[in-house]
Amino acid sequence: MATIISQCSLSVLRQSAEKLRAGDLVAFPTETVYGIGADAENKDAVARMYQVKNRPASHPVIVHIAELNDVDYWAQEIPEYAINLMRDFWPGPMTLLLKRREVAGDFLTGAQEVVGLRIPANSLALGLLNEFKAVGGKGIAAPSANRYGAVSPTTAEAVSQELSEFLSPNDQILDGGPCLVGVESTIIDCSGQNPKILRPGAISAEMIEESTGIVLEEVSETKIRVSGSDKQHYAPKAKVIIDGQSQSGEGLIAMIEVTTPEGVIRLAEPKSIEEYARVLYSALRMSDTQNLERVRIIPPTGPGLAVAIRDRINRAAAN
Ligand code: TXA
Ligand code: MG
Repeated sequence: MATIISQCSLSVLRQSAEKLRAGDLVAFPTETVYGIGADAENKDAVARMYQVKNRPASHPVIVHIAELNDVDYWAQEIPEYAINLMRDFWPGPMTLLLKRREVAGDFLTGAQEVVGLRIPANSLALGLLNEFKAVGGKGIAAPSANRYGAVSPTTAEAVSQELSEFLSPNDQILDGGPCLVGVESTIIDCSGQNPKILRPGAISAEMIEESTGIVLEEVSETKIRVSGSDKQHYAPKAKVIIDGQSQSGEGLIAMIEVTTPEGVIRLAEPKSIEEYARVLYSALRMSDTQNLERVRIIPPTGPGLAVAIRDRINRAAAN
């Protein structure tokens, strides 16, 4: 059981930062999804965070930092194109995999030679990261605040539903309202000559090409996989079916143009691609609270953020 805190003043954030330094866990909002944070320099705290998530220890975790100056502490030999990406898209929904320094231990990187870094664009997250720095911290290791394989939480209540029974009374959940983007950050491997998208997100292939001046290698949409991640992820308990005709009793997630046949439970009817991303996970969650057996999803078409949405839908359906 963790405490949910909804009035996150600076003094509250200072307290949370001190808790993190003491080895406690703090869940916090980012613009993408909520993360469950641990001091990235504290191996035991990171290990407990993995336990709370029920996540295999070999999985790497993103280190969240407060500002560009903090990159050098964790990473080295940073390519020019990565610097362009940082300047253009940080703070923002983008994670860069960079050659690690020794301080980025195996327990953070899954023993890989790269460390994942991100500066989130959420005032509460940035406030926490700054306070964490002020008390001597270097970075907050934070995966999405869900149990392993489940849907990422986009509200503090969803974090509480996912993790509360596994958290201890000293741990905290900071409530910053619903996340603005709604799907996880774009992950870009920056360890090679050219950037490579490992997980699509709000920072699209087109934006990366524009920022770096490098044309990305064409990757088949169904082949994009973050190393170490399972095919089935982001999945509700209900069976997810992509496209086709909705049947009575099913849940339905589709753009507003798609009408709801009789007997079908409409879970979301977004008016734009951005809204689709923002409501997708809460709609999937709703299918579970309503005990639905099947959810039908009509994915959005087109480039940009729609690619990320289709990626998550494909994974939610992969069972
Ligand atoms: O938007 C996000 O990225 C959210 C918020 C909280 O920042 N975080 C998030 O973390 O989605 P997580 O752990 O649920 O997903 C991060 C993915 C993992 O699949 C992990 O394998 C990959 O990033 N990753 C992180 N560090 C890595 C590394 N050093 N090498 C390879 N993959 C890495
Ligand atoms: Mg996750």
